Amino acid sequence: MKITMIGTGYVGLVTGTCFAESGNDVTCLDVDTRKVQLLQSGGVPIYEPGLEELVKRNVASGRLKFSTSYADAIRDARCIFICVGTPQDDQGAADLRYVRSAAEGMAPFLRSGAVVICKSTVPVGTNRRVAEWIRATTQTKFHIASNPEFLKEGAAIDDFTKPDRVVVGVDDEEAADVLQEIYRPFLRTEKPFLVVGIESAEMIKYVANCMLATKISFINEMANICEKVGADINEVRKGIGHDARIGFAFLFPGVGYGGSCFPKDVRALAAVAAECGIEARILRTVDETNTEQKHVLFRKLNEYFQGDLRGRTIAVWGLSFKPRTDDIREAPSLTLIQELLEAGARIKVHDPVAQQNVRQILGDSIEYSVHHYDACDGADALAIVTEWNEFRNPDFDYIRVKMKSPVIFDGRNLYDREKMARRGFHYSGIGLSALPVSLPPADSEPLTKPA
Ligand SMILES: NC(=O)c1ccc[n+]([C@@H]2O[C@H](COP(=O)([O-])OP(=O)(O)OC[C@H]3O[C@@H](n4cnc5c(N)ncnc54)[C@H](O)[C@@H]3O)[C@@H](O)[C@H]2O)c1
Repeated sequence: MKITMIGTGYVGLVTGTCFAESGNDVTCLDVDTRKVQLLQSGGVPIYEPGLEELVKRNVASGRLKFSTSYADAIRDARCIFICVGTPQDDQGAADLRYVRSAAEGMAPFLRSGAVVICKSTVPVGTNRRVAEWIRATTQTKFHIASNPEFLKEGAAIDDFTKPDRVVVGVDDEEAADVLQEIYRPFLRTEKPFLVVGIESAEMIKYVANCMLATKISFINEMANICEKVGADINEVRKGIGHDARIGFAFLFPGVGYGGSCFPKDVRALAAVAAECGIEARILRTVDETNTEQKHVLFRKLNEYFQGDLRGRTIAVWGLSFKPRTDDIREAPSLTLIQELLEAGARIKVHDPVAQQNVRQILGDSIEYSVHHYDACDGADALAIVTEWNEFRNPDFDYIRVKMKSPVIFDGRNLYDREKMARRGFHYSGIGLSALPVSLPPADSEPLTKPA
């Protein structure tokens, strides 16, 4: 099958490469000339585990190509997936300008019987508008379909090749059959291929993301209450998670969700609701709770240093919005760093893959460390923002020696609070207040709170 992906970002590149891996002829099209040139010269513009190897293998086999030309990429394609960004506009709604330009760009070159599939996350009604935008240019007969994407950055290849389900929204059987053919190699474990109406498919993606975002904001709110009343959110989490009606997934407290999906999708669905005269109170509150939660580590640090962070050195571990990706869109680390800079702190950061992306925004206003331990050199406190695996079991004795004072504010609850107190750290998590330090370290200053 000849397939074209319009938009070669996190979704288009991963899914296009996986389609190539299963034997299709795939062209990934993008308007970003530098990105396409990089891919054509053997580079991969994003960090996603396993992707580079897969891209190289499929380019070498001739099944995966990159292009900036709509004419070349669309002319022979049986399936065209729209995978461009749908960022939020000034009002919080989805900005559809890239989807529209993809539709208008492909229209003159569509072959008869092509299936145009929207994989971008778009509000209800967009697929039908895509069809209208195309029909404004061409009389050619084509099919439309909605095929929302559920992959998670950091585990994108696995998610895509072993999906829990595939959802397609169609008007006609032929489009459904073509999509089933493409997805068959990924559904060999009998996971469902769900054929629904186009509007339902569009809605399913928003509802899924809003449900997950709601769980995160809910547990964050519970964690904040736990901390005030002296309860331990980890114990509470276990206590509720064993209830089969509740479960454990997505109920980890933290520093708020970021990334290119949850924040904008929650706001976009609220905007859709408002357009239909429904005030989406839950969605608004989820968004507000999350925005507030992104300040939690700064609040804790500021309180600990009694409102004066001037001249303090703060180490920050983790910059990407979640582990195993270099994506920093709406990352909580950026909120924390901005607040720390405004408060006059010196900041030393480490992230295994996202430092380059942060440097493009923050330049030399912060210091970048090659190793996470180096970020701790002379630090008054360490803030953990992203739960990269290498942060899970560090050498605490080494950290204590490197830091000016053994103080950790953990935005991901990576460590055991009793053990941290015994190791001589002032350690506070989310929904976990610090315990009194039981064994002051022999090789550092007595553990008193700074004046
Ligand atoms: N990133 C995720 O984890 C994820 C998961 C599921 C769904 N989605 C959705 O998928 C869509 C794409 O997300 P992404 O993270 O891959 O975005 P991205 O920003 O990484 O990639 C979008 C790409 O589209 C290109 N582009 C823009 N206009 C174009 C045009 N007219 N023609 C050709 N290329 C064009 C851009 O240059 C960019 O390379 C969004 O709607 C998003 O909500 C994303």
